[in-house]
Amino acid sequence: MSAHIIDGKQIASQLLDDIKSSIDQRLKSGKRAPCLAVVLVGDDPASAIYVRNKQIACEKVGIVSKAHKLPSSISQTELFSLIQQLNQDPSTDGILVQSPLPHHIDETAILALIDPAKDVDGFHPYNIGLLAVRQPQLRSCTPYGVIKMLQASGINLKGLDAVVVGVSNHVGRPMGLELLLAGCTVTSCHRHTKDLAAHLLRADIVVAAAGKAGLIKGEWIKPGAIVVDIGINRLPDGKLAGDVEFEVAKQRAAYITPVPGGVGPMTVATLMENTLKALELREQK
Ligand code: GUN
Repeated sequence: MSAHIIDGKQIASQLLDDIKSSIDQRLKSGKRAPCLAVVLVGDDPASAIYVRNKQIACEKVGIVSKAHKLPSSISQTELFSLIQQLNQDPSTDGILVQSPLPHHIDETAILALIDPAKDVDGFHPYNIGLLAVRQPQLRSCTPYGVIKMLQASGINLKGLDAVVVGVSNHVGRPMGLELLLAGCTVTSCHRHTKDLAAHLLRADIVVAAAGKAGLIKGEWIKPGAIVVDIGINRLPDGKLAGDVEFEVAKQRAAYITPVPGGVGPMTVATLMENTLKALELREQK
């Protein structure tokens, strides 16, 4: 068997087209375009690429993006006051602070300072809490993007045994909550998990979010399983790879996402969706 390769680029492109139509409709009826503030601190090259991709997507769908490029020497107090200013600015609908931040800045405190109504990354504890109590509003982009991608592929998640590998605040934990909301029986695996292979061998769906190239061996995939690889790892030869041994896993899985071209484009598309949604929710208040 060779798995169906889920084309995240194509699914994301369809989602971006839908968002563009909604924004065009707004403009036709005299309403304004959504506006996303993008905060980039320092000169991490990977972060610069991610931010650029997000800005390109904004241009595509008609979201105004306002860049705040700051030196890595910025103090926590200065960053705090920028966030407060953006929170209070009625023309800013979404605030994205690209992670990672320099070590002298308390990232948790910065993310918690963002107005939850403008938290288009879906990282704020309030928004994660809403997802936990089945009232999601602004949902963490990558986990939400995974769910949308599986739905677009015609996959019914109800009743599936799901295993999430990785328990980060931004990805693994909200991913588990999304799968629970979708009706899966969810297991979270992490560095203290005793027998990762045993959990994976009985998983109907595996979501890899550990950030370790090749951590998940192809022979640990149950025949016919769905494999979603969120890992983006830079190999010594400069190529990108996920967390799953793709070539072996794809011979066993029914569906698999590639890296690159799988989950990555969905994260950007759901960020656009969240930015439009943040504006619409604030308009309803
Ligand atoms: N760094 C890596 N991925 C992301 C993301 O989705 N959002 C933010 N804010 N930072 C990131």
